[in-house]
Amino acid sequence: MVGFFREGNTLVCDGVALESVAREHGTPLYVYSAESVRRAYRALDEAFAAHPHRIHYAMKANSSMAIVRLLREAGSAADANSIGEIELALRAGFEPADIVFTGVGKTPDELDRAVALGLKTINAESAGELERIDRAAQARGVRARVALRVNPDINSGTHPHISTGLHVNKFGVPLEQARAIYRKMVSQPGLQPVGIHVHLGSQIVTLDPLQKATSMVVKLAHELRDVGLQIEHVDLGGGLGISYDGSPVPDASLYAAAVLPILRDSGLSVVLEPGRLLVGSSCALVSRIVDIKDGPSGRHFAVVDASMTELIRPALYGAFHRIEAVTPGEGRHLSYDVVGPVCESSDAFGEERRFPALDVGDLLAILDAGAYGSAMGSTYNRRPLAAEVLIDAGKATVIRRRQTLEEMLMLEL
Ligand SMILES: Cc1ncc(COP(=O)(O)O)c(C=O)c1O
Repeated sequence: MVGFFREGNTLVCDGVALESVAREHGTPLYVYSAESVRRAYRALDEAFAAHPHRIHYAMKANSSMAIVRLLREAGSAADANSIGEIELALRAGFEPADIVFTGVGKTPDELDRAVALGLKTINAESAGELERIDRAAQARGVRARVALRVNPDINSGTHPHISTGLHVNKFGVPLEQARAIYRKMVSQPGLQPVGIHVHLGSQIVTLDPLQKATSMVVKLAHELRDVGLQIEHVDLGGGLGISYDGSPVPDASLYAAAVLPILRDSGLSVVLEPGRLLVGSSCALVSRIVDIKDGPSGRHFAVVDASMTELIRPALYGAFHRIEAVTPGEGRHLSYDVVGPVCESSDAFGEERRFPALDVGDLLAILDAGAYGSAMGSTYNRRPLAAEVLIDAGKATVIRRRQTLEEMLMLEL
């Protein structure tokens, strides 16, 4: 078995007991299953095998170097959202030609570096950004490979904070404007338009919006080819969700079955930018209970040593994560609010969760913490960044050690 499961009464990751990993490395602790990441990558790659495709792992989901390297070794390319992520990808061993660069509000320095590196594609967000790329490329005597991000005004049905494909969202340009912007590229000598980019949002669990967006960009590519632009690929972004509560969601093969018929005779290759799908389920945030309190009206609080600084999704989006007692006791089941120590009432991981009576010192595992967990980590309340451990072939390796207090404070003058 792969990932998080029980051996006897205790939770293990790929067969390694979380109790022993937490004892050795302390808490809060991100524990990853390397094999889960590899499997998620393979499932998507195999699902799209029938069509020319390239998976560019969206590093924003988790840019811990060892995770990025693991995906490169599995065969993935990379999607970067900042110069920091580009730098990280290069250090993880990616070639510039393996990297697409996406993101609203790229700075002049970022654009110049991207042009100088000769990335596979810069996914531009606006006509103005294309002009800046054009100038940077001409100044260097090169042509930058670009795509324009189309905002298709399609509702992906996800949480408003992670929806990106509606006209009210800040991302991309409306389809009507996109046509004219592409045509203008013919007269911009620093630009080589090679793709069309779209990304509807994150944690999408219905395929219909993804299908609609695919049809829209394929149709646009054909129109642009008719006016002489050599569009090579459509970039469908990321966004396919995972099941946080155990209920069924469409998997990679259903996604491929939904969009491949649209791509089949298009003559276009496809770029995918999944983040959450590849790493989301691969990690548990392991935390120790530091206090138990009885609240009003019979509620109990289990205060853990992890907080919104390690996993902000519940506070930010009201996101649900399963929480399991690592080694449940024998007591009768009680209802607990699992909360963190940070001075925000939103610093809570779950309300009214039932566990056999908990005690100070017990370990809780917050599941599916691999995406937008450590990547969104912070030192709010002056909490040092937590350590990360990767389990691979039965061995636990620290991939990011715990930040010391000294390191956290050392930037202060
Ligand atoms: C442009 C772009 N591509 C890819 C992703 C990755 O999304 P996900 O992790 O949902 O697959 C995001 C995240 O929102 C994004 O903004």
